[in-house]
Amino acid sequence: MAEVVIEPLEKRHDRKSFRCGKPELDNYIQALARQHQDKGFARVYVAVEQGQNQVLGYIALAMGNVVLQDADEAVFARLPKHPMPVLHVARLATDERFAGKGIASLLLTHAADIAIEASVSIGVHALELIAMDDEAYKFYLHKGFLPLKSDNMRLYAPVQTIIEARNPRD
Ligand SMILES: CC(C)(COP(=O)(O)OP(=O)(O)OC[C@H]1O[C@@H](n2cnc3c(N)ncnc32)[C@H](O)[C@@H]1OP(=O)(O)O)[C@@H](O)C(=O)NCCC(=O)NCCS
Repeated sequence: MAEVVIEPLEKRHDRKSFRCGKPELDNYIQALARQHQDKGFARVYVAVEQGQNQVLGYIALAMGNVVLQDADEAVFARLPKHPMPVLHVARLATDERFAGKGIASLLLTHAADIAIEASVSIGVHALELIAMDDEAYKFYLHKGFLPLKSDNMRLYAPVQTIIEARNPRD
């Protein structure tokens, strides 16, 4: 397999055969993603082999905010009593023929890069998402996301934590 790279979704990308095991997520990349981009409802990034157009995986990102219902953790007690501004991972999927090759991880790293870059210009406290099911929830926990206890399928990764993880102190 050639090097996998992340590119903004364009018309040339081949999405017709994309299958991740969840029809809703297949339909999104095949039928809705470009429309959502055009209307400013999401930015979609695809994983492709260098120089190729076949979509191996994708991630859709949008601005969001999370109202913390019950700030029951010590960490939330220290945060402003306002909705938390986040970069929302609206959708993430890997074609099942390419599962287990690090493609979703690469897409999440790309989203983290964007969150860090955006946080220089606007308030972005965390990367955030809602897991579709228990399998997805376990995957995100494995990737280091933390549960938001006020909403049990919602997880988040503070931008500051991502930055610190990338630059560990000796
Ligand atoms: C979940 C999904 C996105 C993972 O994609 P992937 O490209 O196969 O993931 P990666 O290869 O990057 O896996 C990264 C790590 O997560 C682990 N992992 C994968 N699925 C997991 C699961 N269900 N539970 C726990 N860990 C999991 C892998 O073992 C790997 O571990 P490692 O980094 O320690 O080696 C993919 O299976 C998928 O598209 N599923 C259907 C759609 C879906 O559920 N999307 C999420 C919706 S919220």
